[in-house]
Amino acid sequence: MLVLFLLFLVVPAVSAKDPRCPKNFTFVKRTLTFKNNFTKGWCLGIFNGTDVGNRDRARSVCLYHNASLSNPENSHELEIVSDVIRARNISLPIALDGQLSPRCKALIFRGEQSQQYFDQRTEEGDCNINNHLFVYDDINTDTLFIRSKLGTSAGTNGGYSSQEDGVKFRFTRDCNALTDAYYYFSNGTHFYAVDGRTELLGCFGEKDKQNKHEYSSVLCGRFPL
Ligand SMILES: *[C@@H]1O[C@H](CO)[C@@H](O)[C@H](O)[C@H]1NC(C)=O
Ligand SMILES: *[C@@H]1O[C@H](CO)[C@@H](O)[C@H](O)[C@H]1NC(C)=O
Ligand SMILES: *[C@@H]1O[C@H](CO)[C@@H](O)[C@H](O)[C@H]1NC(C)=O
Ligand SMILES: *[C@@H]1O[C@H](CO)[C@@H](O)[C@H](O)[C@H]1NC(C)=O
Ligand SMILES: *[C@@H]1O[C@H](CO)[C@@H](O)[C@H](O)[C@H]1NC(C)=O
Ligand SMILES: *[C@@H]1O[C@H](CO)[C@@H](O)[C@H](O)[C@H]1NC(C)=O
Repeated sequence: MLVLFLLFLVVPAVSAKDPRCPKNFTFVKRTLTFKNNFTKGWCLGIFNGTDVGNRDRARSVCLYHNASLSNPENSHELEIVSDVIRARNISLPIALDGQLSPRCKALIFRGEQSQQYFDQRTEEGDCNINNHLFVYDDINTDTLFIRSKLGTSAGTNGGYSSQEDGVKFRFTRDCNALTDAYYYFSNGTHFYAVDGRTELLGCFGEKDKQNKHEYSSVLCGRFPL
């Protein structure tokens, strides 16, 4: 009798009505808002692939899993992603959704040329970090949280090479990635943690000579089954 009573209490909590995710995706419950396309549930999964520093390869890996590039929407979702990273010992960086908009990239280049360096926090208009500095594939994730995790300003990753024709070929890191972090203590020791810090890395993968980082996985998201 007691057992039956307990079952009665426990079963509804894990009822078959819970949405399900495909294998290797984890379900996250979301608060419906305009900014996440009123998404009440989402599946996040980290997938391994060759040369996913190349944005189109990362995109293709997610597509293969019937998903899109994605992001954690809040610290709870980041914790879930971090648990998967630790459990599977996945090496960082991990490709995330989000890429500098071409128009804002042009603005960053113009800033470098005139030495009026672009600052994403004070930039007026569309290219402010709070507006449309980035373009995203996934419209079912509110990107406010992940934008707040960007470690360095988008205006500080640029460079150029001088070409024979006299044109300075400009480039900047433009793809969002989850990177590792070290916390330093005053006694000189440090510990390593996945704290959700993101950085911009090149979008061209192995072909990008500036990209010293080797990605082997990408975060994908999709609707539950
Ligand atoms: C799912 O995860 C398991 C365990 O990490 C792995 O062996 C398997 O290859 C993954 N499947 C896919 C489709 O990525
Ligand atoms: C937005 O949400 C609706 C309702 O869940 C869904 O049918 C639609 O596919 C979503 N849009 C995109 C681009 O995923
Ligand atoms: C993606 O969806 C298609 C069509 O529903 C299905 O045949 C295929 O197995 C799915 N791929 C994966 C990796 O789940
Ligand atoms: C985790 O991965 C790192 C590098 O990818 C490797 O050196 C280490 O041995 C791995 N640890 C475990 C427990 O597999
Ligand atoms: C998959 O991930 C593991 C651990 O991060 C890595 O050692 C391996 O090379 C990756 N495989 C591919 C195909 O990238
Ligand atoms: C250094 O400080 C940290 C934080 O206070 C502590 O956890 C760690 O044990 C210390 N390491 C040494 C070698 O004293």
